[in-house]
Amino acid sequence: MKTNSQIKAAIAKLEKNLSNTSTNELLLQPQPRQRDFLESDADICLFGGSAGSGKSLSLLLDFARAELLKLPHYGGVIFRRTYPEIRNEGGLWDESGLWYPLLGGVPNESRLSWSFPSGATIRFSHLQHEKDVYRWQGSQLSRVGFDEVTHFGRKMIFYLMSRMRSPHGIKPKMRLTCNPDAESWLAGFIDWWIDPVGYPYANRSGVIRWFIVLKGDVVWGQTKEELTELYPSCQPKSFTFISAKLTDNPALLQKDPGYLANLEAQDPVERARLLDGNWKARKSESKLFDDDSILRCSDGAWMPPQKGRYLVACDPNFGGADFFEVQVWKLEPQKVCLVHEWRSQKQSVVSSIAQMINIINLYNPLLTAVESNSGGKIVLERLHQELPGRRFEGVLTTATSKVVNTDRLAISLLNQELSFPPDWIGIPEMHNFAKHSRQAASGYDDAVMCASVMCAFIDRVSSRSPIGSTSY
Ligand SMILES: Nc1ncnc2c1ncn2[C@@H]1O[C@H](COP(=O)(O)OP(=O)(O)OP(=O)(O)O)[C@@H](O)[C@H]1O
Ligand SMILES: [Mg+2]
Repeated sequence: MKTNSQIKAAIAKLEKNLSNTSTNELLLQPQPRQRDFLESDADICLFGGSAGSGKSLSLLLDFARAELLKLPHYGGVIFRRTYPEIRNEGGLWDESGLWYPLLGGVPNESRLSWSFPSGATIRFSHLQHEKDVYRWQGSQLSRVGFDEVTHFGRKMIFYLMSRMRSPHGIKPKMRLTCNPDAESWLAGFIDWWIDPVGYPYANRSGVIRWFIVLKGDVVWGQTKEELTELYPSCQPKSFTFISAKLTDNPALLQKDPGYLANLEAQDPVERARLLDGNWKARKSESKLFDDDSILRCSDGAWMPPQKGRYLVACDPNFGGADFFEVQVWKLEPQKVCLVHEWRSQKQSVVSSIAQMINIINLYNPLLTAVESNSGGKIVLERLHQELPGRRFEGVLTTATSKVVNTDRLAISLLNQELSFPPDWIGIPEMHNFAKHSRQAASGYDDAVMCASVMCAFIDRVSSRSPIGSTSY
């Protein structure tokens, strides 16, 4: 802690600087990644990555922006899961003690809060138990932070999101930091920003997407308008993920050159998470699909169009590293057989849809099921336009529907209701598909996801309920 005279000098400096500084650069130079975090305009911004990459300090700087500290009604709260984690040596309370006095902050040790000359406050609090969130029921919080957000349950974060209101014209924001944790709910939430191997896509860091929560499920859109058009009564929120590596914090490496060696000495999984910033590294992971059943169902063959009943499934992905996947399944009396697959990576939307139209015209399916989150909506619209009179169904992927449809795929496999060629790419994907996170433990899972889109209709297509006899 600073002495009184140091604090007085710092306050004088602050008052001089507050009038002409809109950031905290008077304190220290944020590093480029920290600057990305501080400049993000998203409603919710997650700064996640390697240990020691400067995330927690960025959170403290973000909450103490000069333009906020000038506002008498500004009140920010930063949470850790437990009280000792706030008070630990070198933790948030200690670190805030290094910087906040320079901004005129006066500490209240018992409340773990700082008051600033304007009346603005920043406090630290813990939310150990799920019920603790209700202590904040009547609150209107203008800025909420979660340090090590993976330690909190999804419910807690979403509840606090609903408390973010500000009657004083301060746009409410939520700021999150954490190390990667493949076991946490957040790993699924930020899936779009993470490549199939577990590393953040460099060109997606800081890209804003929009989401709503619908009956507990998250529905994503590329734009706000896309969601408000579909769900007019919902209020979409913008979210982004900014990734950080230890090398983004040269200040720490200079101060403590041994820090890198400490991380290198960790076991491979900890090292992958804490040093390399990997979001898919797990200690152990149970698999969703039964290995023996996969083998037993690998008895099919690729087949050209014949007389018969077909179902086409599509999991459309554009641009990124994921595949645009189309599968044709043939409906036999006791089985549903994969007979054709087409997949492409990084092909244009127009040519992917054109290819799909070819396949539909060739196989003449009873039904075409399309995963209809964001990009899929465009595919559906285009198919309706190009092939009027044909039957199309959209399948919205949410956390719940993903569980239901992949479970259905796993059950069909166990019951040997499926058949696919032994060289199908979906076979290694199934062997590698994680039960808990419902995604590939590493590598791709597009073929599995596409097959699970087909499974959204499997009860209609199975022998017990033939597709021809159901109305939809
Ligand atoms: N811009 C900066 N200038 C100088 N020092 C910095 C800067 N950013 C961070 N540091 C210092 O680097 C160290 C690590 O930063 P911080 O605790 O914010 O990292 P972290 O990413 O939260 O780490 P962890 O993942 O372990 O929680 C701290 O001592 C912090 O004061
Ligand atoms: Mg930290």
